[in-house]
Amino acid sequence: MQKVFIITGANRGLGKAFVDVLIKNENHFVISISRSQSEEQKTFAPAYFYFLKTDLAENTLGKKLCLLNDLISNEEIYFINNASIIEPITKIEHLDEDAIDKMISVNIKSTMMITKYLLSHFNDHKLSFVNISSGAANRAISNWSLYCASKAFINMFYNVAESEYEQHKFFNIDPGVMDTNMQKGIRETDFPDASNFKNLHEEGKLKLPKDVALEILKTIL
Ligand SMILES: NC(=O)c1ccc[n+]([C@@H]2O[C@H](COP(=O)([O-])OP(=O)(O)OC[C@H]3O[C@@H](n4cnc5c(N)ncnc54)[C@H](OP(=O)(O)O)[C@@H]3O)[C@@H](O)[C@H]2O)c1
Repeated sequence: MQKVFIITGANRGLGKAFVDVLIKNENHFVISISRSQSEEQKTFAPAYFYFLKTDLAENTLGKKLCLLNDLISNEEIYFINNASIIEPITKIEHLDEDAIDKMISVNIKSTMMITKYLLSHFNDHKLSFVNISSGAANRAISNWSLYCASKAFINMFYNVAESEYEQHKFFNIDPGVMDTNMQKGIRETDFPDASNFKNLHEEGKLKLPKDVALEILKTIL
């Protein structure tokens, strides 16, 4: 039976690494909910890849999710909640309302919307929800208030979901520190713990997104 993978933020970083691995299996159909596609993704056959162009910071996701009904028939569905932003990295007193709204939309609201949609429209399917979490969900990092709190929020949201829907699977997975643009942004920002992240990079301790994607897929499939 074909497996459907819905991945947010699938154009680069860890999300793209998931696509790179999954697309090699012809029993997989990947739906990318992202703002753009990589050049390679533009060449993928429609039978294996669908690009649902969405900016998760905008309130347009709700209307677009009904497209999933046309794309999915009776397959097993995996939702990989991957898209995330970490900015603004700053003290709480400097947070502005737009930044708070954007973080809530991208890191929290979109996840809840997609999860709710799948549970209400595809509850008779075999569903797996994979939240790409972070060590920051359980560790307070100065100047990362929005990011830490957003990661903790979805962890708990999925813990509650697991208690409500025993027939489905819910994972909160910390991928570890990876060599992506998010880490580059962290290294370029000044905050109390910044040197730790610079050291991890200099010591070659960052994981490759492809290795992480393979490791996570081994756990969930
Ligand atoms: N990198 C790490 O060390 C690390 C550590 C722990 C956890 N994580 C988690 O791992 C996941 C993947 O992170 P990453 O390192 O691959 O990050 P990344 O390189 O910054 O990629 C983030 C992805 O999210 C997408 N995204 C951001 N804002 C969006 C929006 N408004 N609408 C739609 N998509 C949006 C980006 O798309 P655009 O190109 O359109 O911006 C991109 O595809 C995240 O959940 C992150 O919190 C990462």
